[in-house]
Amino acid sequence: MRLLVLGGTVFLSREIAAQALRRGHEVVCACRGESGGVPEGATLLRWDRGQSAPDELTTGSFDAVVDVSRVPSHVRRGLDAVSDAHWVFVSTISVYADDADPGGPGVGVLHEPSADDVDLRVSPAAYGPMKVACEELVLSRAASATVVRPGLIVGPGDPSGRFTYWADRFTRDGEVLAPGDPAAVVQVIDVRDLAAWIVTLAEDRRVGVLDGVGQPMSFADLLRACAPSASLTWVDQEFLGDHGVEPWTGPDSLPVWLPRPAYDGMLAHSPQPALDAGLVLRPVGETCRDTQAWLRADPAARITGITAEREQELIGAWGRRGGVS
Ligand SMILES: NC(=O)c1ccc[n+]([C@@H]2O[C@H](COP(=O)([O-])OP(=O)(O)OC[C@H]3O[C@@H](n4cnc5c(N)ncnc54)[C@H](OP(=O)(O)O)[C@@H]3O)[C@@H](O)[C@H]2O)c1
Repeated sequence: MRLLVLGGTVFLSREIAAQALRRGHEVVCACRGESGGVPEGATLLRWDRGQSAPDELTTGSFDAVVDVSRVPSHVRRGLDAVSDAHWVFVSTISVYADDADPGGPGVGVLHEPSADDVDLRVSPAAYGPMKVACEELVLSRAASATVVRPGLIVGPGDPSGRFTYWADRFTRDGEVLAPGDPAAVVQVIDVRDLAAWIVTLAEDRRVGVLDGVGQPMSFADLLRACAPSASLTWVDQEFLGDHGVEPWTGPDSLPVWLPRPAYDGMLAHSPQPALDAGLVLRPVGETCRDTQAWLRADPAARITGITAEREQELIGAWGRRGGVS
């Protein structure tokens, strides 16, 4: 297969290109080349998608295209150049309007599409609506298409630093501050499993919309998969909120943790349709160990979340308050 990856220089799109090459496919990565290098063996075709597409793209005769864009005009320009191939569009579970509902394709209500380009650094809430607009473009204009809506993508190379916080935390001893309800459901998907599946979807020219998610599990099981014998102090969300600890991401956060019940559905989607369509999931413990190996090997690996000092302060404050762990 001759595969066009719109991206290819960072995390998921780079892993897709790398895995397609390992399966013997010919891979062209079209992007600016600013975020990193493309995998060895791939051809880099420089294209800033704010500009019209280079001729090599329109005359490229691709069998399949993988696109990870968030920007409707970029997707439109990609389709203007290559609409006769099978497209796999990487969307997000953020297209669903109700984070309390585990929904899924055809069931979960979507945001209204936002077909205009919005600067997501200024208006991050436009992410889901823009992805809805991108999905609609791909589904209406590509020769055939798969839309994949991933949940939280984790593993080696993760630029977000969220799951990496937990992988890193369990490389250190001491009492671990664990957020919220231990039974709260979460799910993560290893970037390598997601990438392998996306290559399969392109090979199969599979048509449809699928969530790309891992097995739902309790937060306690997620942490236990990383460190079965770690000592955890579970602290409720009211205490965390009162003490200025943020959910999900950022320097003041306990990453991956989400306020409940507002986000009960966000990381609780069914992986079954994806498993039926060829997704193979590795155990979370393996993802955690490999993330720790990546952290050791790459000093530039990003971690987000509270510091070790802040964690111990919070555990102390929780204990003084008379909390039960
Ligand atoms: N991380 C998560 O947990 C999560 C969850 C759900 C869904 N997702 C989705 O998963 C995908 C992740 O993709 P990713 O890991 O490959 O990261 P990404 O940040 O979405 O990748 C961006 C790619 O697009 C290229 N690009 C950016 N601006 C460009 C421009 N103006 N012109 C041409 N190319 C441009 C970049 O290359 P250059 O900068 O080198 O040009 C890079 O290769 C995204 O679709 C995201 O929405 C992520």
